[in-house]
Amino acid sequence: MYNDNPTLPKDPNKILHDRQGEVLVMADKSANHKSFYIESYGCQMNFSDSEIVASILAEHGYGPTRELETADLILINTCSIREKAEDTVRKRLQLFNKVKREKPGTLIGVLGCMAERLKTKLLDQEKLVDLVVGPDAYRDLPNLLQGASEGDKGINVLLSREETYADISPLRLDNNGVTAFISIMRGCDNMCSFCVVPFTRGRERSRNAFTIVSEAVDLYQRGYKEVTLLGQNVDSYKWENPETKVIVSFASLLKMVAEVHPDLRVRFSTSHPKDITDEVLYAIRDNENICNYIHLPIQSGSSRVLELMNRTYDREWYTAKVNRIYEIIPDCAISSDVITGFCTETEAEHQETIEMIQWAKYTMSFMFYYSERPGTLAARKYDDDIPLEVKKRRLSEIIEVQAEVSHQHNINDIGKTFKVLIEGISKRSNQEYKGRNSQYKVIIFPVEEGTEIGNYVDVKVTSCTTATLRGIIVDGPNTQATLSQQQASRV
Ligand code: SAH
Ligand code: SF4
Ligand code: F3S
Repeated sequence: MYNDNPTLPKDPNKILHDRQGEVLVMADKSANHKSFYIESYGCQMNFSDSEIVASILAEHGYGPTRELETADLILINTCSIREKAEDTVRKRLQLFNKVKREKPGTLIGVLGCMAERLKTKLLDQEKLVDLVVGPDAYRDLPNLLQGASEGDKGINVLLSREETYADISPLRLDNNGVTAFISIMRGCDNMCSFCVVPFTRGRERSRNAFTIVSEAVDLYQRGYKEVTLLGQNVDSYKWENPETKVIVSFASLLKMVAEVHPDLRVRFSTSHPKDITDEVLYAIRDNENICNYIHLPIQSGSSRVLELMNRTYDREWYTAKVNRIYEIIPDCAISSDVITGFCTETEAEHQETIEMIQWAKYTMSFMFYYSERPGTLAARKYDDDIPLEVKKRRLSEIIEVQAEVSHQHNINDIGKTFKVLIEGISKRSNQEYKGRNSQYKVIIFPVEEGTEIGNYVDVKVTSCTTATLRGIIVDGPNTQATLSQQQASRV
């Protein structure tokens, strides 16, 4: 999943309060206390990484701020997935440099995938930044900062085969206190021909399962009610316990996290159609708190295009997977990512993608037109031969089709009652809550006395739009007993 909007720590004071036991230096307003401002772009992994960076910085005397103008350190965690994502970052860097001219001594750092892809370019040629730190080098940030403040060039873009930041407890930045991400693996070993991720994130590696479970326990004990397990391809998660040699698969990991507490919802993203197993589907079916929702990107509905994309499945394989999901979990929601105008895509192949969206009944899709990325397999082997206006026209066609499919999906929910986790107050009115059901659909409903953010309530759907369900609470908080010591020690 992808987000073009930056996130900032919403309420740094709350963070200070929540974490004062662990991050003492943040509560300490002593002379050496400095502040950092961070913006994140790209996928959820990047947002999750920013929380790891925040934790590393907090231990070295830097506290988060939302005020760009007063920050001692300005960081931007970047994405290279499409050209547009990189253009946005360049514009932000120009603005940061304006701020720096007003306040010399401010350091500017670029983190994440653009740092990895462009390496010294932003430092030497474009002279836009003081620090360049790749996704596997965040532990080196304090050292690099020290060097940069003394005028050295701070760069570390080494990729690692081992780094998973397993022992680092992330400092939750975009904090609603209810939902959180847990990174379970890093990198990607697939070589989808359009994709830059294997080059910017390196080889795939899985994080120690016990540290994942204890992070979930810690979050639950601090009041969180939902965790999303993150990786570029979560189904290929595989971790070997070095002592027992027992291998933990993704299905086993899901069950371990689900056992933390029945009131802790578990989600995961992203699943690759070639790797998702029946075992994972059974784990979803058999555990009420593993959500009935799978993000299963198709990319294209045409087998020929899928082959060029090197996705390693074809249309038939994908449809069989979708059938299997609906067979095992009939009320499962499936969403997707789609690319239009990939090299040589014909109108007929574009129609196959449209038909797939209608057939699979995706609840939503993230849709993009193809953007050639330097160094990828597609850039080296194929001509980017579909004119921009054709790519864009095809994109608007699939957006329209997806909107109809989403709307119909929502209409079918009218009259049904769902267990909803209240995530916050709706944007439009403080008299309304915003929550999600197991299928990841957003539901808006009136606030009722005796309920609060973080509660589960039963909501009956009364109406809908393309993107949202609306309803009313029909049954109040049905949270179960709090986590017992016994359960905590079992995991
Ligand atoms: N690991 C995830 C995808 C991560 S990237 C997966 O395999 O599903 C998120 C999405 O960005 C991809 O699913 C794809 O739809 C889109 N994307 C990736 N590279 C792209 C490119 N060069 N041009 C346009 N969209 C791209
Ligand atoms: Fe990119 Fe494919 Fe890996 Fe997803 S699975 S990150 S699209 S290479
Ligand atoms: Fe972007 Fe890197 Fe994620 S390229 S989508 S931030 S892995």
